[in-house]
Amino acid sequence: MKVGDTAFRSIWVESATGEVRIIDQRWLPHEFRVVSLKTLDEFATAIRDMWVRGAPLIGATAAYGMAIEMARDPSDASLDHAWEVLHETRPTAINLRWALDDMRGLLSPLAPAARADAAIRRAHAVADEDVETNRRIGLHGLEIIREIARSKPKGEPVNILTHCNAGWLATVDWGTATSPMYQAVEAGLDIHVWVDETRPRNQGAQLTAWEMNSHGISHRLIVDNAGGHMMQHGQVDMVIVGTDRTTASGDVCNKIGTYLKALAARDNDVPFYVALPSSTIDWTVNDGVREIPIEERDDGEVTKVFGKLDDGSVASVQISPDGTRGANPAFDVTPARLVTGLITERGVAEASREGLLKLFPERRTAA
Ligand code: MRU
Repeated sequence: MKVGDTAFRSIWVESATGEVRIIDQRWLPHEFRVVSLKTLDEFATAIRDMWVRGAPLIGATAAYGMAIEMARDPSDASLDHAWEVLHETRPTAINLRWALDDMRGLLSPLAPAARADAAIRRAHAVADEDVETNRRIGLHGLEIIREIARSKPKGEPVNILTHCNAGWLATVDWGTATSPMYQAVEAGLDIHVWVDETRPRNQGAQLTAWEMNSHGISHRLIVDNAGGHMMQHGQVDMVIVGTDRTTASGDVCNKIGTYLKALAARDNDVPFYVALPSSTIDWTVNDGVREIPIEERDDGEVTKVFGKLDDGSVASVQISPDGTRGANPAFDVTPARLVTGLITERGVAEASREGLLKLFPERRTAA
């Protein structure tokens, strides 16, 4: 996607130096900082401390991290070590394990001397495939938006509510939840996006709003608790969110607060869609509430907020009394029964085992 006049992906390799570069998302929207990741530890830190975040981008970053480590030491021990170090960075997004298993599956049978080259080529492929997958998700989602647009009075936009950032910054490009929005704008449809701020880290306020702003998409930022009220008053035509892990039965794990939006949507007959690449489906898990590990993050993310001060500097500010501790579960699970449809690269699936298997029949024996 374009930032100013320059086209960016969220992760890329600088051709002159071979260095892997990322946008350090901790500083957006206030500063656009690009950093190079050079060692396995730097890759692990970038994922753990959320310089990069969002399930598909976490996966692509891990793939590049493994490739960089293979260039340094392609031994079996190093391959296993890289898998472990990267895997323990964040527990919920399944794309991390998907990418690491994919890389190890490819590299293990190869002679060490052949690994570095194969690893960087596969990491590039993981990134490129993510871009194409998300483009396709956007085209399938576009048809849903088009259908809703047909039912609206002439001159009224389709109002879409989204939570967290499942935008191009959360993937390699296009985003998942935002891809249908970008496609809709390109197709000339009139849309308006309600952006949930998404406490505690405010990925909506900081990242989704930045994306919408940079791309000239009509949007308003709302507090996390506003969505239900707006649905009751007919101000939301549909919800589209992303996911960090979707079970084989269609339960959706996503940023904390997603479940409450799904409940409000059901109570108000607002369609609730989840956009995801198939790498986000965990075919080994059925019961999302009981089986998906939910990341607990530092309570300082709750007791403080990060932003720009009046003097223009960026800083974090404590909002609660000294001594009050926060609790910070980073994700929740929306049961499949509350999900209208899963927008994948192969089409829109009903949120159920059968629905998913219809689109991914090759999983029938494994599931
Ligand atoms: O904690 P984060 O910022 O990594 O959480 C991101 C989300 O919850 C996204 O909605 C999800 O990863 C889907 S990204 C296409």
